[in-house]
Amino acid sequence: MSAALMMPMAVSSAYAADPVVQGTVVSSTPAPAKTTAAAAATTPVTAALPNVKILATGGTIAGSSASNTDVTGYKAGALTIDTLINAVPEMKQLANVSGEQIANVGSPDIDNAVLLKLAKRINELLASDDVDGIVITHGTDTLEETAYFLNLVVKSDKPVVVVGAMRPATAISADGSFNLYNAVKIAGSPKARGKGVMIELNDRIGSARYITKTNTTGTDTFKSVEQGYLGVVSGGNVFFYNESTRKHTTESVFDVTNLTSLPQVDILYEYQNNGSYFYNAAVAAGAKGIVVAGSGNGSMSSASSKGAAEAAGKGVVVVRSTRTGSGVVTHSSSDDKAGMVSSDSLNPQKARILLMLALTKTSSPSEIQTYFDQY
Ligand code: SIN
Repeated sequence: MSAALMMPMAVSSAYAADPVVQGTVVSSTPAPAKTTAAAAATTPVTAALPNVKILATGGTIAGSSASNTDVTGYKAGALTIDTLINAVPEMKQLANVSGEQIANVGSPDIDNAVLLKLAKRINELLASDDVDGIVITHGTDTLEETAYFLNLVVKSDKPVVVVGAMRPATAISADGSFNLYNAVKIAGSPKARGKGVMIELNDRIGSARYITKTNTTGTDTFKSVEQGYLGVVSGGNVFFYNESTRKHTTESVFDVTNLTSLPQVDILYEYQNNGSYFYNAAVAAGAKGIVVAGSGNGSMSSASSKGAAEAAGKGVVVVRSTRTGSGVVTHSSSDDKAGMVSSDSLNPQKARILLMLALTKTSSPSEIQTYFDQY
């Protein structure tokens, strides 16, 4: 039997003995440099290999089901980081791998507190000579949001790779183990430095700025439709072909060091026959920013425009994005007149991430527009 076919069984039996951490943010105990308790027991540190830290947050890559054909009804965020590492021992030929559990949740439950905790821990780790690269295991549903947040606040050129899976670890032909293996390969590669935060699934390396989830269940769900991929992992090697042209990591002005929370930004979806009441509700609930998932080129109904104008009148910054899935929302003189911002090619969920960080610097729509033009 091939190693790949044996993998789900290895995960299942490890899972049975594993203390499961579910549904909550668990404290990350900083491991001694280059090791975790689990990795230390079996893996001596090899000086010739890069040191890669895996930070686990949950998701399907850590998902588990009693049935190996169940790929939709499983529990995401069921397995711990030690189980994930022990299930892919081949990684230890690529890097000195150690892990930390930052959270263990389905990614719809990743919130601003987890984002801040993760970013601060990454900056702390990457400041050390003992860490050459970081892999973050994450649910795919909101993976691009975390990746783009990190792309804006990580203060290092060292590789940071966010990885997930579409099939739980217990499934036949689970995709997580090879995705994780490839992510460790990228994170340990000097070629991956300075690329901004990357996403790896299905052998493709995407920029956090460009890539998005496009399919509910397919393993080829992450696509970079207009701007393309940064590179691929093929035949055991890492290949890069493109670079992100937008500011990231060490060029970014955004800094989480002194942040303990982020401003509330809500997303409102545009549709026929909508009203302005959601705008009022968002403002009443404390929103400092609103992203509109507009129709077409960020279009809004008359009712939405009225709601947005009232919100803007109360100092709330409104950003027009699009529900179309691709393309640029172009900026116009009527945006300037209405005090509105356009999202460039950021989809609504990523526009929300940038707007939260922009609001930590200013509430001026014209200044915030310059961030959307550059990041
Ligand atoms: C999640 O996002 O946590 C569940 C779905 C997945 O990881 O693919």
